[in-house]
Amino acid sequence: MKLDLTIFLSAFIGAQAVLGTPIRSRTPYSIKETHNVPRKWKNLGRAAGNHKLHLQIGLKQEKFDELDLHLYEVSDPNHSRYGNHLSFEDVNELVKPAEETLDLVHEWLLTNGVRELAYSPAKDWINIYIDVESAEKLLDTEYSVFQHEDGSALVRTSHWSLPAHLHEHIDTVQPTTSFMRSAPQKADYIQFDQPWTPPGYKPPTNETIAKVCRLFTVTIECFRTLYGTIDYQQKVPGINKIAFNNYIGQRPIRPDVFSFLQKYRPEAAPNAYTFQSIEIDDGPAAQDTPLTVEQAAGDDISKEANLDAQTILGMTYPQPVYSYSTGGSPPFIADINTPENTNEPYLTWVNYVMGQKDVPQVISSSYGDDEQTVPKSYADRVCKQFAQLGARGISLLVSSGDGGLGGEDSSGCLTNDGKNTTTFIPSFPPSCPYVTAVGATQEFEPEVAAFRAPGLGPDNKTHGFYASGSGFSNYFDRPSYQDGVVPAYISALGGLYEGLYNKNGRSYPDIAAQGLYFAFWWNGTESSISGTSASCPLTSSIISLVNDDLISRGKPPLGFLNPWLYSKGYKGFTDILSGNTSSCGTGGFPVTKGWDPITGFGTPNFPELLKLARH
Ligand SMILES: *[C@@H]1O[C@H](CO)[C@@H](O)[C@H](O)[C@H]1NC(C)=O
Ligand SMILES: *[C@@H]1O[C@H](CO)[C@@H](O)[C@H](O)[C@H]1NC(C)=O
Ligand SMILES: *[C@@H]1O[C@H](CO)[C@@H](O)[C@H](O)[C@H]1NC(C)=O
Ligand SMILES: *[C@@H]1O[C@H](CO)[C@@H](O)[C@H](O)[C@H]1NC(C)=O
Ligand SMILES: *[C@@H]1O[C@H](CO)[C@@H](O)[C@H](O)[C@H]1NC(C)=O
Ligand SMILES: *[C@@H]1O[C@H](CO)[C@@H](O)[C@H](O)[C@H]1NC(C)=O
Repeated sequence: MKLDLTIFLSAFIGAQAVLGTPIRSRTPYSIKETHNVPRKWKNLGRAAGNHKLHLQIGLKQEKFDELDLHLYEVSDPNHSRYGNHLSFEDVNELVKPAEETLDLVHEWLLTNGVRELAYSPAKDWINIYIDVESAEKLLDTEYSVFQHEDGSALVRTSHWSLPAHLHEHIDTVQPTTSFMRSAPQKADYIQFDQPWTPPGYKPPTNETIAKVCRLFTVTIECFRTLYGTIDYQQKVPGINKIAFNNYIGQRPIRPDVFSFLQKYRPEAAPNAYTFQSIEIDDGPAAQDTPLTVEQAAGDDISKEANLDAQTILGMTYPQPVYSYSTGGSPPFIADINTPENTNEPYLTWVNYVMGQKDVPQVISSSYGDDEQTVPKSYADRVCKQFAQLGARGISLLVSSGDGGLGGEDSSGCLTNDGKNTTTFIPSFPPSCPYVTAVGATQEFEPEVAAFRAPGLGPDNKTHGFYASGSGFSNYFDRPSYQDGVVPAYISALGGLYEGLYNKNGRSYPDIAAQGLYFAFWWNGTESSISGTSASCPLTSSIISLVNDDLISRGKPPLGFLNPWLYSKGYKGFTDILSGNTSSCGTGGFPVTKGWDPITGFGTPNFPELLKLARH
């Protein structure tokens, strides 16, 4: 296992730190957390005792509430501290655990024979590497191998315990009960020979748009024209940076990225071989060679990563682009009893990035899963890590999901509490109030919410259901920045879908952009791909260009977008007024004038965004 030295600063420190501490009375174990195994997973039996786990122990952060206050002050354009982002050191000071917490947890680990451990820079996370047998003793639990319908497997448990006196000091321990798989939010892949126009399609009447925008496929030139970035000259590339995330074995294939850029943004093509690939916890590097026939047959290790790389490099040239690849959760495994690496990649990534002093100002992440696949404590803690990024002035954008309200028909829209009650299924991380969630649109005049019923695609093959992800969190309350729009939207619904969603929850998405039939390159061939996975890197790119302008004027970057977006920035988005979001066996929430939980405030208008951001 490759350790990153800036995170794992001080292995062995624990043993020393504990010596001076008096041994406290031990308390009996009691269950700290129970989480039902989500639907689609089945228990294949006990995990092997010698299977290795990288256990991440989240200690209670002493002053998170204070961090939250700072975050909102520095992100609110009406506050005198707007833009005064916190430093790496400031954030660490606010999230470090109390001395007592550290002492008690050290003592517990030491008495259980754990002698090697490593901390995050703020010491709010402890990392240990142990086998399943030892973890079972430490957490008084039993780990099993669980297999998803799609064949992938994880080593997890449905409950775990702690000595009673530690319950208030530890927020979460993972991997235990989280079944989150960070699936890419890409809906579709279509190979084609010819650009295609569906029967009855009316091209835009605006000639500028009609010249560059086709329904199938949509190109970088179309996005740059439609959203108005095409004439923008970047001023501080290199000071301004952008990154994207890869999980579950995803890796960009440089020759595909090169071919795409050569056709759609030729000046950017050389960067296909130079953008930086950062590997975390044995994540795979961006690949310099074409996919092998074997890799291509495995199908899914590079489509999402290629999409992110192609969109961002195409939109933000000449800006430096960073690709984070985090290891963990291989999609398929040979032997069910010995999964290779079943760590919790989301947490691994966020802890890695929190350990870096220099982080790109915008990060695009197109992965998520049903909120109910993660225990609340885990979602809470990961969401708080995102708040820390925001406090440091980093904008994290995530895709809103491709299943509308939770899936095509009602059979997928059921609770995970054992009762199988019909409900809408929100998605995490878009449900976290500290991220900016991006939905998808299609067509041009006007743009409408992205939706495609299952059926024949332009390649004459059958394709699945796709609707831009939409919803209300069951875990996170509505943040105050949404108070101005969400209650009004709900009240206008007049009771529609009452009981199927949490009226008091954080609602998403916040904004949207094109997300159907992107021009795309994969396996040496031109093709097309769709999803909020596409709209997220596109929107992230545009936000990054706004940052370029701000930074060149000596102003801070936008940072955590939402307080600005909901009070001021929304004026720089084109409202989406129609579209179909049928899902969970319903017609979906209506797309309306103003904010709505399908396309948020709408799609970016770059020249307007520049004006709004400058003042
Ligand atoms: C922010 O300040 C402006 C001008 O001072 C004011 O018009 C606006 O209502 C304020 N917005 C909020 C959300 O407080
Ligand atoms: C056509 O679209 C372009 C690009 O968005 C815009 O600048 C122009 O104003 C539009 N023209 C008309 C007549 O609406
Ligand atoms: C990938 O490309 C190779 C070489 O052109 C081809 O033989 C193979 O069939 C392709 N695989 C897929 C899954 O498209
Ligand atoms: C709920 O659904 C699961 C999985 O489909 C099934 O095993 C279980 O029996 C159902 N429970 C109830 C109460 O219907
Ligand atoms: C799809 O099938 C229809 C009817 O068979 C045919 O007219 C059309 O050319 C086909 N399109 C493609 C892209 O193969
Ligand atoms: C949404 O679109 C599908 C297929 O195009 C159609 O069957 C359905 O009636 C539409 N629903 C609404 C509410 O418009």
